Amino acid sequence: MPIRQRAVLSVVIPTFNERDNVGRMVEVLDAALAGIPFEMVFVDDDSRDGTRERLCELSAADPRVRMVHRIGRRGLSTAVVEGILSTTAPFIAVIDADLQHDERVLPQMLAILQTGDADVVVGSRYTEGGGVGDWDAGRVRVSAVATRLARMVARVKLTDPMSGFFALTREAFDSAVRDLSGQGYKILLDICASSAAPLRMAEVPYQFRAREAGDSKLDAMIVWEYLLLLVDKLIGHIVPARFVSFMAIGGVGVFVHMAVLGSFVALGQPAFIWAQSIATGIAMVFNFFINNLLTYRDRRLKGFVPVTRGLLSFVAVCSVGAIANVGIAEVLFAGYRYAWWLAGLAGIVVGAFWNYAATALFTWKAK
Ligand code: GDD
Ligand code: MN
Repeated sequence: MPIRQRAVLSVVIPTFNERDNVGRMVEVLDAALAGIPFEMVFVDDDSRDGTRERLCELSAADPRVRMVHRIGRRGLSTAVVEGILSTTAPFIAVIDADLQHDERVLPQMLAILQTGDADVVVGSRYTEGGGVGDWDAGRVRVSAVATRLARMVARVKLTDPMSGFFALTREAFDSAVRDLSGQGYKILLDICASSAAPLRMAEVPYQFRAREAGDSKLDAMIVWEYLLLLVDKLIGHIVPARFVSFMAIGGVGVFVHMAVLGSFVALGQPAFIWAQSIATGIAMVFNFFINNLLTYRDRRLKGFVPVTRGLLSFVAVCSVGAIANVGIAEVLFAGYRYAWWLAGLAGIVVGAFWNYAATALFTWKAK
């Protein structure tokens, strides 16, 4: 049996509901990379629109087409990372499956890597000759702010650090892979901020094209994940981003708690211990729902039964925290004559640490 020629370039293509794009994708890559031994690795997060079946057909017709199928998980960054981990070629490219990136610049990207002058080549929309196509003014502005933030965090001067279109050497990837944050959409930024030594970057301009089939998956949640990525890269070596998120939400919960407690105190009833208990209960429910949405969005509890069960376990676990919370607050308030707000706050701090540790274990335990 003839041995297939070894791929020089592995092209990793994340997909989520891209049934009507993947066939065309294989065609355009085949045309753009004519003469270059390459392979295509599609990483699909269990799309239900028939993407997987389409990929099986494509793979049957062309052995250069492979697929990694992930179940029960979502995330562009981790999809790209796991796709790359399944390859062995010395050079790797990452490109969207929706034909918005211009595959015709891939040979130029590869040629730059092969000279050895750069570790990473980025397809840029914001350098001479690049462009964002038909984006509306709002998205252009959001992208500009995010780009500026990214330059501050990653130690590289890139015109388009948010690009999802880039190529890199295996060595560059290996130098970063164990320290990646894996948060959200911005895998290039993550790699640049995580590599052991600063990576040598090059840019190639391209025009971002309009999406013809399927829908964009970019939404408000992506913005939150992006902020968490920045937090993780700035202070992630000290505390995990999840803890920061939990505490930030807890901080907002403190305002909820204090507003309720303050109102009762202003009313003059019920007794302080009851006021603090009610305020704790309301803050608890608030914290459960917001944490389920943001801190644990990747393991989010959905549906009536899982949410109810989650809320009950959260309340049960936090009740222990709340007993400590109320107990400490009451002792400080009644016993030591602390101000109502200082007593309330001390109770909350003790409760918060317990809550984070215990709910991570019981309410949102990793599968
Ligand atoms: N496996 C997997 N899992 N693939 C995903 C997921 C996911 O959770 N979410 C999105 N994708 C795939 C899509 O199927 C598509 O091929 C590609 O990732 C990009 O997703 P889009 O939803 O089309 O993103 P976009 O066009 O709005 O955003 C593009 O521009 C951004 C810069 O503003 C992407 O190139 C981003 O990477 C880029 O940062
Ligand atoms: Mn897109």
